[in-house]
Amino acid sequence: MITKIIPIDDAQKCAPQLSEAGEIIKAGGLAAFPTETVYGLGGDALNPASSRKIYEAKGRPSDNPLIVHIADMEALPAIVKDVPETANKLAEAFWPGPLTMILEKSDLVPKETTGGLDTVAVRMPSDAVALAFIRAAGGYVAAPSANRSGRPSPTRAEYVAQDLDGRIEMILDGGDATLGLESTIVDLTVEPPAILRPGFITGEMLRQKLGCVEEDRTLFCGDTGQAPKAPGMKYRHYAPAGELIVVRGEAEAVTAYINGELARGRQDNKRTGIIAADETIGNYRADVARSVGKRADAAAAAKGLYRILREFDDEGVDLIYSESFEGAGVSQAVMNRLLKAAGHKVINV
Ligand code: TXA
Ligand code: MG
Repeated sequence: MITKIIPIDDAQKCAPQLSEAGEIIKAGGLAAFPTETVYGLGGDALNPASSRKIYEAKGRPSDNPLIVHIADMEALPAIVKDVPETANKLAEAFWPGPLTMILEKSDLVPKETTGGLDTVAVRMPSDAVALAFIRAAGGYVAAPSANRSGRPSPTRAEYVAQDLDGRIEMILDGGDATLGLESTIVDLTVEPPAILRPGFITGEMLRQKLGCVEEDRTLFCGDTGQAPKAPGMKYRHYAPAGELIVVRGEAEAVTAYINGELARGRQDNKRTGIIAADETIGNYRADVARSVGKRADAAAAAKGLYRILREFDDEGVDLIYSESFEGAGVSQAVMNRLLKAAGHKVINV
C-alpha cells in the first residue's frame, strides 16, 4: 500500500483534503492525524473490521482498547449507556482537550474497539485539524497513538511515517504536536473516579471539579505487585532501543554517578547517551546529549521527550542515562512516561 502524506496547515483551507481523509475512514481504511497530544492512528470506531486493522497496523495486542475520538458533545450519548454528571462537569471544564474519560459503553460500540471491555474511552481533542477530520469521518474515530507497538508515541508526521509507512492509507501532516504526551485518562465508572494515566489535566485539576479522585500507584512505582487498570499501561511502551536508566538524588551525586557509568559504558564500546536539563547537560560526557529544556519547564520536557527517545534510536545509542525530573503537575506525566521508557530501571544515589 502507498501511504499518502498530506500537509494540512489550516483546517478550513484544507477542507477537500480532510474530506478525502474522512472518506478513507468511512470506507473502512486508516488515516493518521495530528492531535494536540500526539498523532493518532484513526479508523471508524463503530466498524469492527476497522479496529482489527488498527491492531494489525500497529502490531498491538487486541486486548488493549482504543480511545474513541468525538468532535461534538452531541455525539457522546449514542456511544455510552448514560452520561453521568461527572462526565458533564469534566467535559465543560476540559473538552475539547487532553482528557479521556472511561464510561459504560452502549451497544453501538463494538467489542473490537474496546478490547472486549464493557466500557469505552472517549476523548474530544482540541486540535482544529483533528476536529475537522473526525467530523469528515462520520463523528467517531477510534485512535491509538500512531506508533508501532512499543515505540514512543509520534509527535510529528515524519515519526508516524517511520513506523507506519506502507501500512495505512494516509497521514495528515499538521506539524509538531503542541503538548507531546498522551491525554490524561480518568475512569468515571468507579467511585471515586480514578486516574489511569497522568497527563496535562492533572489530579489537582480533576479534584477541583469532582472532589475525590484516586491515582493508581502503579503509574509511578514499578513494584507495587498490582496490575495497572488501563490495559495499555502494562505493556513496555515508549521504549528506546537502547537500555535507559533513570538516576535520582542530589544533583552533584547524580552527575558523578552517571559520568562514572558513561565512562564504563564507553570502555565496553557502547555508544552512550544522556538526558538532562539545560542547567546540567554540560556536565556530562556522552556520545549523544539531549536536554529536555530548563529544569523548571515541565511543559518543554513533555513536548520534547518522545522526540529525544526517537533520536537516541536514530543515533544507535546502546546505553542511556537520564536525570530525574520530579515535581508536581505535568512533571508527574513526564516521569510516568520516562519511568515506563526505562522499564522502571531507577538508581537512587
Ligand atoms: O492523547 C491520546 O490519548 C492519544 C491521542 C491520539 O488521542 N491516544 C492514545 O491512545 O494515547 P493509546 O491507544 O495509545 O492509549 C490508550 C490507553 C491505553 O493504555 C488503553 O489501555 C487505555 O487507554 N484504555 C482505552 N480504553 C480503555 C477502557 N475502556 N478502560 C481502561 N483503559 C482504557
Ligand atoms: Mg499509545
